[in-house]
Amino acid sequence: MLKKYIRQQMNILLRSIPDADLQRQGSSVAVKLRQHKWFQQSQRVAIYLSIPHEFPTVEILKVLLHPTSNKECFVPVITNDQMKMVLLKSWEDLRYNFKPNKWGILEPVDGRRPDSETDLDLIICPGLAFDCHNNRLGRGKGYYDRYLTDVSCKTVGICLKEQMIASVPVDSRDVKMDCVITG
Ligand SMILES: Nc1ncnc2c1ncn2[C@@H]1O[C@H](COP(=O)(O)OP(=O)(O)OP(=O)(O)O)[C@@H](O)[C@H]1O
Ligand SMILES: [Mg+2]
Repeated sequence: MLKKYIRQQMNILLRSIPDADLQRQGSSVAVKLRQHKWFQQSQRVAIYLSIPHEFPTVEILKVLLHPTSNKECFVPVITNDQMKMVLLKSWEDLRYNFKPNKWGILEPVDGRRPDSETDLDLIICPGLAFDCHNNRLGRGKGYYDRYLTDVSCKTVGICLKEQMIASVPVDSRDVKMDCVITG
C-alpha cells in the first residue's frame, strides 16, 4: 500500500535528519506561524506535543505558553481510541501533570476532562508528509481525520521541507489542511 510505503520512507528520513536541522526548521516554522494572520487572529490553538524524530513543536509551545501570549494552548489526548483536546496551562502544568503514554507522547495524568465544548480557532497538525495541494499523510490511525470532520476551524500542517512530496495519496476520509508551513 502506497501510504504505508511513504510512512516508512518518511520515518527513515526523519531518523536521518540531524537534530540541529530539526530544531532549526522547528524554529523557522514558529517564526512563520507567528507572522501568520490566522495564528495572530486565533485565541484557542491546538498543537501536538512532539516526540523524538518528529517535527518539533517546542518553539511553537514557547510562543503559546509565553506569559504575554493572549492565547490558550490545547493538546491532544487519546481516550477510548478517540482524540480530544485538553487545555495545557503552562510549562509547570506540562512538567508535573503530564506523563508519556504508550507511544511516548505526553498526556495529562490528572484526569482532566477533555473540553467537549472546545471551540478551537486553529489546529496545528502533525504529518509524515504533505503536498502542495495541502493533502496530509498522518501516522495511520486516522485520529486527526476523524477529529477534523467535526470541527470547522482553520487547520495548518507543519513539517520539514523534506516532508513535502509531489503527491500524497488520499481517500475520501482524508481531510485537507487549509495551509502547510515548512521549515
Ligand atoms: N472520518 C473517519 N471516520 C472513520 N474512520 C476514519 C475516518 N478517517 C479515517 N478513518 C480511518 O482511519 C484509518 C487511518 O486513516 P489514514 O490512513 O488516513 O490515517 P492518517 O490520516 O495517516 O492518520 P492520522 O489522521 O491519525 O494522522 C483508516 O482505516 C481510515 O479509514
Ligand atoms: Mg488520513
